[in-house]
Amino acid sequence: MKIWITLGIILCSGLLILTLWILPGAFSAKGKPPDLEIQLARFIRHWAVPSHLRHAQNPIPLEQEAFADALHHFADHCATCHANDGSGKTPMGPNFYPPVPDLREQTIQAMSDGELFYAIHYGVRFTGMPAWGKGDPDNDTESWNLVHFIRHLPDITPEEIKKMKSMNPMTQAAREEQEALDSFLAGEDFQPAAEHHH
Ligand code: HEC
Repeated sequence: MKIWITLGIILCSGLLILTLWILPGAFSAKGKPPDLEIQLARFIRHWAVPSHLRHAQNPIPLEQEAFADALHHFADHCATCHANDGSGKTPMGPNFYPPVPDLREQTIQAMSDGELFYAIHYGVRFTGMPAWGKGDPDNDTESWNLVHFIRHLPDITPEEIKKMKSMNPMTQAAREEQEALDSFLAGEDFQPAAEHHH
């Protein structure tokens, strides 16, 4: 009996010391995740994708109009974190834990269509990647079209990037400035946007 109590106390204090040693900084988003952590997380996530999606191919054929919608959708909703070219080089991108990956890279392009769909529809827990799917995943053609767009990212053209820039969300101030400039260019009276003091 005494032995068990002693062992219990030793075990508990050991765990406490370990926790106090690991805990400081454990919730900071600074720093890069170690390779082992990335590989382990990706391995577990691969198996966490339901089997009917794990190796699924995109069931939606690639059509021009839907592709144009996906490009617009990406510029409007995804580029704030992922950048128009998918590089992840945005003010926020590298500061997430884990950081926003370069969607053009092999690690991501090697994922199956179904895995990409799963990440978009359901998001990725414990990361900055939100869930975008609404309603029944079986009717979520939008996310499947985004998968087509992600497959196209390694070959994205400067013209497409330019088009996307005009679709990126704007701040109120930037929109007012743009509107003032547009009306000026259209020959209307020039009204400069209100000046901003910092
Ligand atoms: C608020 C920032 C943010 C936005 C907005 C965002 N993402 Fe992400 N996304 C992330 C982060 C962070 C990751 C990395 C997750 C990880 O490491 O697993 C990620 C990962 C991904 C991945 C790869 C999944 C993986 O295994 O890493 C895909 C595909 C993706 N995002 C697509 C999109 C699409 C499409 C949109 C828009 C509909 C979008 N994301 C919007 C932050 C964002």
